[in-house]
Amino acid sequence: MLNVGLIGYGYWGPNLFRNFNANSGFRVTAVADRCPAVREKLAKAHPGLIIVAEAGELITMAGIDALAVATPVATHYPIASKALDAGKHVMMEKPLCTTAEEARDLITRAERAGRVLMVDHTFLFTGAVQTIQDLHRKGDLGDVCYFDSVRVNLGLFQPDVNVLWDLAPHDLSILNTLVDEDPLHVEAAGYCHVNPGLPDMVYLTLHYPDNKVAHLNLSWMSPVKIRRVAIGGTRKMLIWDDLNPEEKIKIYNSGIEFQPETSRNTILPDYRIGDITSPRVPKYEALNGVVEHFRRVITGEVTSIMDGRKGLRVVSILERAQASLDAHLKRVSEAGGGIR
Ligand SMILES: NC(=O)c1ccc[n+]([C@@H]2O[C@H](COP(=O)([O-])OP(=O)(O)OC[C@H]3O[C@@H](n4cnc5c(N)ncnc54)[C@H](O)[C@@H]3O)[C@@H](O)[C@H]2O)c1
Repeated sequence: MLNVGLIGYGYWGPNLFRNFNANSGFRVTAVADRCPAVREKLAKAHPGLIIVAEAGELITMAGIDALAVATPVATHYPIASKALDAGKHVMMEKPLCTTAEEARDLITRAERAGRVLMVDHTFLFTGAVQTIQDLHRKGDLGDVCYFDSVRVNLGLFQPDVNVLWDLAPHDLSILNTLVDEDPLHVEAAGYCHVNPGLPDMVYLTLHYPDNKVAHLNLSWMSPVKIRRVAIGGTRKMLIWDDLNPEEKIKIYNSGIEFQPETSRNTILPDYRIGDITSPRVPKYEALNGVVEHFRRVITGEVTSIMDGRKGLRVVSILERAQASLDAHLKRVSEAGGGIR
């Protein structure tokens, strides 16, 4: 049984608390949260639980084997670096940290301490993503040519990060399992309607070799929630609608084959419209899988599918996207628009 300390009990922390306690390999023995009201509520609901205000108190606490961290993104690096140096296994909420340099440093610290560093990219443990990865592994889709995601809703506005850092980690963690290469070019455009300088709508485009492209439409300003990803392969295409409980994934045996028309010296497309199928997508709580994965990585049963290096890959793209976003905001502002 591993004793876990949970740092951050805001919106996401309670989900970690519940899933760690549901796993017979873990027991949450202590929680840290800065908010007095949160601590008071926890103390009432869980007598016997050690409750402290500051992350630092848990990091140095004896008898804690692992830490799960669900605090705002800006706090991730200082907490994770100290936790690894103190010899704890660490599971960070996404994104791992705020720069690629920080991520590399955390990887080094974890290796030096011989401790697990993992990032909770929850979607990798959903039935839908595992079904898509299976199709991809079996070659059913062919080579992925495009990944087109719409991830929009109204709020939750995060005070410390923009919509890119809040929502894109989900898509990027999935995309990185389908496309091996790093993007050749990253461009982002963003718009600030609520907080000046903190985009609440971002359009992100990642350009890969061989014309592969990923496009992410990320927004906290949409009146409706949409979680829809289209993935085009050289053999088949699919639509993943995460909010559709019946047919989450539809696979289209469709494509475009190009027939050279030598006499006219042009290339004519030939449309292939085939069957539409909807595979059964297993239903389970993804976070349960994440927590069990963390346990198995700590005990050495498996190597992690979301270790520090995978977290670094996501943060590197976010960093490049942020640079492009900054340049875009500056250009629009110089033209007299944009930032309010
Ligand atoms: N995996 C997912 O699907 C998912 C979903 C939502 C949020 N998240 C991630 O979880 C993290 C937290 O997000 P949230 O929405 O829960 O934020 P939140 O603001 O609701 O909660 C953060 C909590 O951390 C506490 N805190 C901050 N600094 C602290 C410190 N130094 N010591 C102790 N407590 C501290 C705050 O008091 C607050 O209660 C973020 O990284 C976010 O990206 C992940």
